[in-house]
Amino acid sequence: MEIKTLGVVGAGQMGSGIAQVGAACGLTVIMNDVQDAFVEKGFATIEKSLGRMAKKGKLTEQEVKEILGRIEGSTSLQDMAKADFVVEAIVENEEVKLNVFKQLDDYCKEGVILSSNTSSISITKIASATKRPENVIGMHFMNPVPVMKLVEIIKGLATSEETYQVTRTLAEKMGKVPVPANDFPGFISNRILMPMINEAVYALFEGVGSAEDIDKVMKLGMNHPMGPLALADLIGLDTCLAIMEVLHKGLGDDKYRPCPLLRKYVDAGWLGQKSGRGFYTYE
Ligand code: CAA
Ligand code: NAD
Repeated sequence: MEIKTLGVVGAGQMGSGIAQVGAACGLTVIMNDVQDAFVEKGFATIEKSLGRMAKKGKLTEQEVKEILGRIEGSTSLQDMAKADFVVEAIVENEEVKLNVFKQLDDYCKEGVILSSNTSSISITKIASATKRPENVIGMHFMNPVPVMKLVEIIKGLATSEETYQVTRTLAEKMGKVPVPANDFPGFISNRILMPMINEAVYALFEGVGSAEDIDKVMKLGMNHPMGPLALADLIGLDTCLAIMEVLHKGLGDDKYRPCPLLRKYVDAGWLGQKSGRGFYTYE
């Protein structure tokens, strides 16, 4: 099936970024969220990102207009009936994702690939909510999507080789470098990244250093582009906690236990950049 229309479910920081790169490579995009306000926020994020690229001379004003013109907003999951390929990028919660995949399976055309941008949840489990497990796959973009080159591609137990090849080709068309990972909690990326972030939160919790100093050590000492606590704020502390919980439960090893301070911040609604406060405060 030729992929002309990309369905993106979830218009948050990842969904809006995926919609943007999809439209930038010439696809028509349907960007769905549960409320108009969230779809509008998604469009505002895309406009800001495209504006930034235009200012740097990477895009013309005309190209910005054309990219935006290819994205249609939606608040009904039934609109995914028009999609030739779907990327789900909603909250990192297994129950919510299973429910959405069950509906996508009902609404989408036969043979359409249903992919998930999940950071950690089993693709095999997500696929089990559908009657097309051979067409379900993990397509894991990195944040910020318009900038980061990697897309991890994760086959579930029943995912077909054809689904894998189509997804790889689409990732390349979107200007990304696909890397395969097997279906274990957190895949490759978050199996390694999230324990480091969690350990940085423990270092703060135990008073090893201030947030600023922990981040400075990793930036200046290890050449990371941003410190782990600033990165956690960028990712979203709710997402970081959800990923640690999947690692802890799925691998059954206490070395993955989420730091109590991370849990406390999430309980307080301090979710990082998206809520205005995390380890740092934001305008
Ligand atoms: N849209 C478009 N362009 C953007 C952008 C956006 N949202 N954000 C940054 N840019 C561009 C900038 O315009 C700039 O472009 P030029 O190179 O042409 O100047 C470039 O990216 C660098 O940006 P800045 O100069 O503003 O800032 P920076 O050098 O500090 O880079 C950063 C910002 C790219 C976010 C960098 O700090 C970085 O790479 N941080 C680490 C990001 C990371 O680790 N991401 C993975 C998170 S984990 C994940 O995603 C998986 C998961 O499941 C949780
Ligand atoms: P976010 O909180 O910014 O956005 C999630 C969006 O999903 C919200 O707009 C919410 O309204 C919407 N949503 C929730 N339930 C929905 C439903 N039933 N139908 C449609 N929309 C629904 O989260 P995010 O950071 O964009 O993360 C989304 C997914 O991407 C998660 O699975 C996360 O683990 C993964 N991910 C996140 C990052 C990151 O750095 N934040 C990186 C890679 C992957």
